[in-house]
Amino acid sequence: MTTTLTPVLTRNWDQPDSFTREGYERAGGYRALRKALAMDPDAIVQAVKDSGLRGRGGAGFPTGMKWGFLPPSSPNPRYLVVNADESEPGTCKDIPLMMANPHVLVEGVIISSYAIRSNHAFIYVRGEVLHVIRRLQQAVAEAYEAGYLGKDILGSGYDLELVVHTGAGAYICGEETALLDSLEGYRGQPRLKPPFPAVAGLYGGPTVINNVESISSVPSIVANGPDWFASMGTEKSKGFGIFSLSGHVTRPGQYEAPLGVTLRELLDMAGGIRAGHRLKFWTPGGSSTPIFTEEHLDVPLDFESVGAAGSMLGTRALQIFDETTCVVRAVLRWSEFYAHESCGKCTPCREGTYWYKQMLKRLEAGQGTEEDLETLLDLSDNILGRAFCALGDGATSPVTSSIKRFRDEYVQHFEQGGCPFDPAASTLWGGDGK
Ligand SMILES: Cc1cc2nc3c(=O)[nH]c(=O)nc-3n(C[C@H](O)[C@H](O)[C@H](O)COP(=O)(O)O)c2cc1C
Ligand code: SF4
Repeated sequence: MTTTLTPVLTRNWDQPDSFTREGYERAGGYRALRKALAMDPDAIVQAVKDSGLRGRGGAGFPTGMKWGFLPPSSPNPRYLVVNADESEPGTCKDIPLMMANPHVLVEGVIISSYAIRSNHAFIYVRGEVLHVIRRLQQAVAEAYEAGYLGKDILGSGYDLELVVHTGAGAYICGEETALLDSLEGYRGQPRLKPPFPAVAGLYGGPTVINNVESISSVPSIVANGPDWFASMGTEKSKGFGIFSLSGHVTRPGQYEAPLGVTLRELLDMAGGIRAGHRLKFWTPGGSSTPIFTEEHLDVPLDFESVGAAGSMLGTRALQIFDETTCVVRAVLRWSEFYAHESCGKCTPCREGTYWYKQMLKRLEAGQGTEEDLETLLDLSDNILGRAFCALGDGATSPVTSSIKRFRDEYVQHFEQGGCPFDPAASTLWGGDGK
């Protein structure tokens, strides 16, 4: 059983100056950069491959392998783009990480760019989080002042320019190709793949796109070696990750632990479900991952085990709901989000999410029918696997998993002609249930 956390990225968060260069360096920061600059770039790519690091942005693609897909020669410059758009409901790891420890990301960007032989990097950050943007800009300015960015970094002959670019508040701009369009100044909508970004990405150049947490993990791998990283976690899901507990939990927050930790173990560390209540349902990786219940408390939170149990590890956004929560209302809320955020490019998602919203509103108000449940499942079949990007697939997860696990509760709504739950009892909905 895991009773200890593995604080690496979060180690310094409680220090008052954790976000300054001075504070970061006092804790050993930028030593990995010096080591990396003395290494051959390919050796760093190999170390990341050997570590087993898998993308922390949701899909879990092996990071070193992604870097290895860049064509060896290309007439266009190579780019590194960090996906800091964090907008998935429940996901709250990258924003606190950049707020408390922006320099670990900056150091990760420099090492990763050097490894893939890129001289231009971008951090695409969610536009609403102005405080985080300021903090990142400050960290980047401090790194330039110290000679960690710009021309001839630390006398190595290596040059890197790093730009912090703000998005304009659309969930779809977290999808990697929509992000590239947005970064180029176009309306953010997913691109057809192939070509994949590794071949033709930003401005048509070979591009690596990685999540904030993936890139922030690189300095520790360089500093401590791939075996150190691989010694944590499970056989195929190596290392540590930030697990974000939110909702009806006594001590919500970010818990950095080895992959494979269980929700039961995390809840033990987080003081359990709020006093006097019990767990009803939870998401393992944000709203786009099928919901779990009490029976999944002991599922190891790694990519394989969560998948085998019928969901996805996603972004490790553990949203916890107790028995006061109406599952139909929660699914309606999520579906309203997807309908709002659908970019409209493809019909299954544009139309499907709109109809989800309409039908769930009716069901939640107790005016639905058994037939509506079948229509919702049928609609889901027409979205899943037929949408242009993963937003559409993600929108089906809360609907299908809640009907599978809580069909009785849907039926109760229309049999009773209204919602059986007292909205004021669930603190998640702001007291008045709205
Ligand atoms: C609708 C949608 C939103 C996404 N939002 C994010 C995001 O905010 N941050 C992120 O890192 N990945 C997000 N992703 C996943 C990215 O497309 C991509 O897989 C990821 O940035 C790759 O980084 P990684 O390999 O380091 O995980 C999103 C995907 C979709 C379909
Ligand atoms: S699935 Fe939705 S978000 Fe993705 S391209 Fe289609 S309409 Fe846009």
